[in-house]
Amino acid sequence: MISETGVISPDTLSFTKEKKKLEGKSAGTIIIGHDLTEEKRTLGKLIQEERLEALGELTGGAAHKFNNVLTVILSYIQFLLQETEEPGLEKIKKQLELVEKSAFEGAKVVSELREFVRGRKEAERVEVDLNERVKDVVVTAQFRWKDQAQAMGIRINTELDLGNPPPLMLNDYDLRRVLTEMIFNAVEALPEGGKIILATGREENQAYFSVTDTGVGVSPQTKKRIFDPFFTTKGPQINGLGLSVCYGIIKKYGGTIEVKSEESKGTTFTIRIPIHPQK
Ligand SMILES: Nc1ncnc2c1ncn2[C@@H]1O[C@H](COP(=O)(O)OP(=O)(O)O)[C@@H](O)[C@H]1O
Ligand SMILES: [Mg+2]
Repeated sequence: MISETGVISPDTLSFTKEKKKLEGKSAGTIIIGHDLTEEKRTLGKLIQEERLEALGELTGGAAHKFNNVLTVILSYIQFLLQETEEPGLEKIKKQLELVEKSAFEGAKVVSELREFVRGRKEAERVEVDLNERVKDVVVTAQFRWKDQAQAMGIRINTELDLGNPPPLMLNDYDLRRVLTEMIFNAVEALPEGGKIILATGREENQAYFSVTDTGVGVSPQTKKRIFDPFFTTKGPQINGLGLSVCYGIIKKYGGTIEVKSEESKGTTFTIRIPIHPQK
């Protein structure tokens, strides 16, 4: 079947047959094609949520165990470090400090995994004005990427398209974290420069904000795994936890994250948060 946009999509089609009779005799068959795009999309979303739910359980258990192990390791290291204050033990002290650094890095990963599982621990919520927050996160994020982009000779322009979002009761750190992760993903999707557009607004009883880039886009295979912890297309040095953490945070507020993307054209992440969360 050819959709309005001219795309043939056999996997979202189903057919039903109806035999027609005229004066008791067979007069032929009518075949009706049903476009199931919307149904498939809803099903896809449910499967995605269930997968993330299952991943969350697995990850939660593993994070808890690792946390216990790391606590023991770190306390022994600290004890041993005190023992190496004596002269002549400088070399051992240095090596122990390296072990300590790695253990701290491990602890950071564990704490991010826990954020994915159930958002950050319930922290103080304040009334936030989305527009104000978007404006100041854009500025603080720019300090971190602008020089580097200029040195590489690429231009990234940011645009604001701010509407009238209702005030939300959120933890300020959570909101900054989500905005920052999304802005950096947008920057990383623009190796040849381009545009980042931040928009806010209101949709019925929800406030929304979105981050759009004119970058490389996301392939359909990547899109399925984009919120999975440790999923990254950026190489082995990258931990791939950014969007998992965002997912955990937004879920805590009863919100949703939608991804729309076209390869080589760009990507939009839209975050919607209900004004009165059902708890
Ligand atoms: N704006 C974007 N444009 C293109 N791809 C993106 C974008 N945001 C996220 N992705 C894809 O999703 C993956 C996971 O993102 P994330 O969880 O933030 O991990 P990381 O940025 O560390 O790789 C990225 O590696 C990338 O492939
Ligand atoms: Mg990221």
